[in-house]
Amino acid sequence: MIQVETQSSLLEQALSQNLSISYSCRRGDCGQCLGELLDGKVEPLDVNKPLLQKEKLYLCNALARSDLTVRLPYSPETEHIKVLRSPCKIHELRPLSENVMEVRLRMPQASQFEFVPGQYIHLTNKERVTRSYSLAAPPASDRHLCIHVKRIDGGLFSDYLFLRARQEDVLHLEGPLGRFVMPDRGSVSKTIFLATGTGIAPAHAILSALTVQQLSRCGALFLYWGNRCRKDAYWHDRLGDLAQRLGVRYVPVFSREASSGSAVQLSYVQDLVAAEHADLKDARIYASGNPAMVETTCKQAAALGLPAGNFHADPFTAS
Ligand SMILES: Cc1cc2nc3c(=O)[nH]c(=O)nc-3n(C[C@H](O)[C@H](O)[C@H](O)COP(=O)(O)OP(=O)(O)OC[C@H]3O[C@@H](n4cnc5c(N)ncnc54)[C@H](O)[C@@H]3O)c2cc1C
Ligand code: FES
Repeated sequence: MIQVETQSSLLEQALSQNLSISYSCRRGDCGQCLGELLDGKVEPLDVNKPLLQKEKLYLCNALARSDLTVRLPYSPETEHIKVLRSPCKIHELRPLSENVMEVRLRMPQASQFEFVPGQYIHLTNKERVTRSYSLAAPPASDRHLCIHVKRIDGGLFSDYLFLRARQEDVLHLEGPLGRFVMPDRGSVSKTIFLATGTGIAPAHAILSALTVQQLSRCGALFLYWGNRCRKDAYWHDRLGDLAQRLGVRYVPVFSREASSGSAVQLSYVQDLVAAEHADLKDARIYASGNPAMVETTCKQAAALGLPAGNFHADPFTAS
């Protein structure tokens, strides 16, 4: 139970009282802060932003107007994880393609930072711009964290990283956050990952950290990675190797360029998955990257019988 006042959002108040809640945009776009309103009255902070999605409440846009009962999302896999706020340093900036930069971050020696593969962090630079980035690799013993950042023309944070950032720059990190993780229970006959662009980061972190037990609960594994064209698919070879090691069927998908004589598909990942998997009643789906892809996948998968609890979404909503 927490005591709240009526002038600021439930999210801000829950965070100020150290409740563990995922969030990113703080303005009703990303859906990371959704909770379930069981009882009570709420009003929107901003009437132009969503307050409720079915029975789900956008905590960042909700003001309490009575005593409330709200069920926060719970995942046993992330329950032991503490959200930390810590400085970190840029250890390395490595272009992966024309438009994607791998940024390796170094945590302080004494840092207790832990995360579950699939989670994301918030980074704030000296210019006080904060953005969310998914961790692209599983936890490593050298305390390095790896993210992939796509360049957005005129984008405040990505421009900083591509144009002005230097090794040893100090950033402020908050995290880890998010519940886009592999559950520790429940078997399915197939598990399908769909990612677009840098959405491959959390999918790669999850896949490369799978334990033997988790693998056995996944059933047949599929990975669809969508990009506009071949030159954007910066991790094609690496994913090919990973797929071979794990026995994953890896399908690169290009929306604008067919590659003659290769097995590459010309399509959108969500359409290809719907065409290739007519029955998803016993499946689990992970969709990360473009928010429109994630939303369409969710709708199409539900129509093909996917149980709601088996859809895991990590939309990279613009901040
Ligand atoms: C949970 C979560 C995880 C994320 N993980 C990653 C990640 O691993 N890698 C990554 O690159 N990004 C990721 N993002 C997106 C990231 O947080 C930023 O939104 C993105 O880097 C753009 O920030 P910016 O400051 O460069 O651009 P901004 O200054 O925020 O945006 C400038 C303009 O570009 C538009 N814009 C912003 N993003 C996009 C886009 N993707 N495509 C087209 N137009 C856009 C904005 O609407 C705005 O008009 C994630 C987002 C969330 C919510
Ligand atoms: S933090 Fe509430 S919708 Fe993004």
